Amino acid sequence: MSASKRLAGEKAIDYVEDGMIVGVGTGSTVAYFIDALARMRDRIGGAVSSSEQSTQHLRGHGIDVLDLNAVGPLPLYVDGADECDPHRRLIKGGGAALTREKIIAEASERFVCIVDPAKQVPVLGRFPLPIEVIPMARSLAARAILAATGGQPVWREGVVTDNGNWILDVHGLSITDPVAMERELNQIPGVVGVGLFARRPADVVIVGGEPPLVL
Ligand code: 5RP
Repeated sequence: MSASKRLAGEKAIDYVEDGMIVGVGTGSTVAYFIDALARMRDRIGGAVSSSEQSTQHLRGHGIDVLDLNAVGPLPLYVDGADECDPHRRLIKGGGAALTREKIIAEASERFVCIVDPAKQVPVLGRFPLPIEVIPMARSLAARAILAATGGQPVWREGVVTDNGNWILDVHGLSITDPVAMERELNQIPGVVGVGLFARRPADVVIVGGEPPLVL
């Protein structure tokens, strides 16, 4: 239980309008948003989910989960983050859902990120950067990531993503140019998704507190 995560999740309801199909992220902060969304489930058009975990949570509340291909662009995406810099650029993927999260963020007009104050950093990289890779490319990708960034990739053993892939967490980074690093890492064969959300940052960040801070 985290009061600041709950306050951030509940504040994000302010951005939900009647009839909307809402993009929904993954994690413990988003879980509070889903609980709040459930209280207005009869007024929304449904949700597009970024993970099996969130899908189960949404359906458990009787919220329709729709296929992104069937609904097209979304007006709103609400998701948490592992780190957030002053430009609303993020590290995400602590819950291994980064690839679907990035797809929904890209498909959404407005991305509202909900975090507790501990997630705010001046420079991204203290949290190890998650990268989703095709299993057979794990070693190849790890060597290329080391060469490109100087960071140390560590295999998150035992974790398989919803897409059937693996995660490398890159330690020891100080990401002063996140847009360039995101672009470079995306070029590595076998990399499916990079947990840097810099090219498409959040549009709004809600930092949980009394009252919540909207950045
Ligand atoms: C999942 C994510 C989450 O948004 C991130 O890990 C934050 O999680 P939490 O709200 O539990 O702190 O990127 O892939």
